[in-house]
Amino acid sequence: MNVTIQANPIFREPDRSRLRYIVMKGSAGSGKSMDTAQHYLLRLMQDKGRNLVCIRKSDITNRDSTYAELTGAAYRMFGDKADRFWSIKQSPLQLTCRANGNQIIFRGVNDDRQREKLKSITFQRGKLTDVWIEEATEIAQADFEIIDDRLRGELPAGQFYQIRMTFNPVNQNHWIKRVFFDTPDPNVLTHHSTYLDNRFIDAAYHARMERRKEIDPEGYRIYGLGEWGEVGGLILRNWRVEDISQELADYDDIAIGQDFGFNHANAILLLGMKDDNLYVLREVYVFGKETSEIIPLAIEAGIPKNRLMWCDSAEPDRIKSWRTAGFMARPVRKEHTTEKKYQAAQIDWLKGIIRKDLVVPRTIFVHPSCVNTVKELQQWRWKKDEKTGLYLDEPVPFQDDAMAALRYGTEKWRKPPVRYNSTKGGI
Ligand SMILES: Nc1ncnc2c1ncn2[C@@H]1O[C@H](COP(=O)(O)OP(=O)(O)O)[C@@H](O)[C@H]1O
Ligand SMILES: [Mg+2]
Repeated sequence: MNVTIQANPIFREPDRSRLRYIVMKGSAGSGKSMDTAQHYLLRLMQDKGRNLVCIRKSDITNRDSTYAELTGAAYRMFGDKADRFWSIKQSPLQLTCRANGNQIIFRGVNDDRQREKLKSITFQRGKLTDVWIEEATEIAQADFEIIDDRLRGELPAGQFYQIRMTFNPVNQNHWIKRVFFDTPDPNVLTHHSTYLDNRFIDAAYHARMERRKEIDPEGYRIYGLGEWGEVGGLILRNWRVEDISQELADYDDIAIGQDFGFNHANAILLLGMKDDNLYVLREVYVFGKETSEIIPLAIEAGIPKNRLMWCDSAEPDRIKSWRTAGFMARPVRKEHTTEKKYQAAQIDWLKGIIRKDLVVPRTIFVHPSCVNTVKELQQWRWKKDEKTGLYLDEPVPFQDDAMAALRYGTEKWRKPPVRYNSTKGGI
């Protein structure tokens, strides 16, 4: 059988290597994930007796990352014939090569129960030979060692064990740097790639990266150049990814937040509130689209028309288009203060600081399908004063479109109900 695949030459070496550890750092958009997915499909189809487990720290995030990459690669490579070559199952997530029975399964290391599940992996045929740890910087060294221990014992002649790790090098003090990069080891292949090595990246992506270089040099080093850096000064830490209910009735209240964008992302978030916690149920996150193209996408994503949709106040025309389409779109009302203080008030609320004298414990739960919201949460940071090295109370204005939608969407919950003052004539 001949399969036509499109690949980036930068990954030729890691794809061919038989070393035990393939450690791939790189900028966002360098093509690591797509290459890895494609590579494993080919390897498992060619080499009988190999089986792969894909690891994310949080098991549920596999569905929208490793599993989505692998199924996407299968359809890219085989088109509508993908089903002939791979049996693709959703629950539990699993891919099985029809010709040789090789399998791909998915696991997490979030808690002891998930760690225990790692120890009891078995396959229909052959042993566990391959591990892909996606976003490997999320994982603790102890968890890596549990995984590493799983690849032991004699293999048939010609077989080998291999662990491949893919990640953005977010923290220069990370154990991955110490263990794999700072200490030479003949069993390790370290690899570096950037978006500039990816021939499939479009011009708009290049333009966004150029902009990042200017307004966020610290972030650009990590996410643009793929160099070890430091994501300090994170704005929100009280969030986590969880498989939250998609039933609107399960929440005390529902609202929508929207930040308009064309060159920036246009971000729409469906939000729920329950007790003091905030829930991000769904996201619509697109670049380079007109309002008339985004509206059908929002409808398809199930963004409801009978709930308030809080939008960026700077673009009344777009709000009008959404209203005409039947959505309850309205502008957020900015307090009479500076943009800086306005954002700070919203951020305080998101953290649970309701007033100076009233703080509630608040967690922001994010559904795993909201991958762009998660990406933004991971790197939304305070600006740093380059001279003093201190963080300022102003966010870095880059890749913050879902964060803006999040700030807007909480408008009604954040602001106390308006008290109309009859002596001044009310409304
Ligand atoms: N082999 C490929 N074929 C087609 N498009 C690709 C390929 N590799 C990368 N791309 C494009 O580049 C983008 C970024 O690749 P991705 O693997 O997600 O990068 P990374 O994981 O390094 O952040 C993809 O969304 C896709 O559009
Ligand atoms: Mg990736």
